[in-house]
Amino acid sequence: MQKLSTRHLLGIKDLTPADIELIMATAREFKEVINRPIKKVPSLRDVTIANVFFENSTRTRLSFELAEKRLSADTLNFSASGSSVKKGETLLDTVNNILAMKVDMIVMRHASPGAPHFLAKHIKANIVNAGDGTHEHPTQALLDSFSMREKLGADLTGKKVAIIGDILHSRVALSNILALKKQGAEVTLCGPSTLIPRYITDLGVNVSHDVKKTLAWCDVANVLRIQLERQQIKYFPSLREYSLYFGINKKMLDDLNKEIIVMHPGPINRGVELSSDAADSHHSIILDQVENGVAVRMAVLYLLAGQN
Ligand code: CP
Repeated sequence: MQKLSTRHLLGIKDLTPADIELIMATAREFKEVINRPIKKVPSLRDVTIANVFFENSTRTRLSFELAEKRLSADTLNFSASGSSVKKGETLLDTVNNILAMKVDMIVMRHASPGAPHFLAKHIKANIVNAGDGTHEHPTQALLDSFSMREKLGADLTGKKVAIIGDILHSRVALSNILALKKQGAEVTLCGPSTLIPRYITDLGVNVSHDVKKTLAWCDVANVLRIQLERQQIKYFPSLREYSLYFGINKKMLDDLNKEIIVMHPGPINRGVELSSDAADSHHSIILDQVENGVAVRMAVLYLLAGQN
């Protein structure tokens, strides 16, 4: 069995291009499995996985849970709300108590960047980062790459990917940039200058503030949510003005003299970064991303379990 170069998935930063290829190939096999009448395989029987979520989630949490069930793992679900975290229990105490129940793997979402990296230094279980603050969301970037490959072909070398929206507060943006650059794609970030980190071009990406030109350039537009909950100050005058200058609607896509793919990690602010007619149009592969998330997360869990 081929192996990953790491026993945790903390970020795309730690993956080699060969790791990404292995995850993509394994996810292709699992996608076939989950489209069969019998969707379950015994690969992770006797493996116990805890999904430990300190921040809200719909897609990532359900997708990991389903991936674990499809692999026949035993699962525990923990939400900070309603737990003893509210009584002041620390992250390390919480996780060590979960591990005392003989848990093999932790899937964790946390509002603090670096929280899964901290845990990886203190505990023995495999850790999967399901989103750490504004830092990384590696499985989202992997499922995004998988979805792009399905539409554009297995080789993303030279493919033009635009990431449009609130780059500053987005863990999806950083993980996508790192994943796409490791696969040879060209990346342009587009948004108001206040929502683009100053030194981001050090990662080898282009920056644009013109959404129409960016759409005309790209093969893929990965549109990101405006994350108001992480914005302590005003980065633009109003949502209406943001939508006017950076929002994408179906007419803008129909008027391009080529087909592009529109993606969004969800949840969508309909009518802000993406209109409903664009989100629900034939240009959009948003629900394919969600379907692929299960196969990609099955691949990640299966490969990490094989490291032990
Ligand atoms: N894409 C994503 O992470 O969505 P959730 O916050 O619903 O998990």
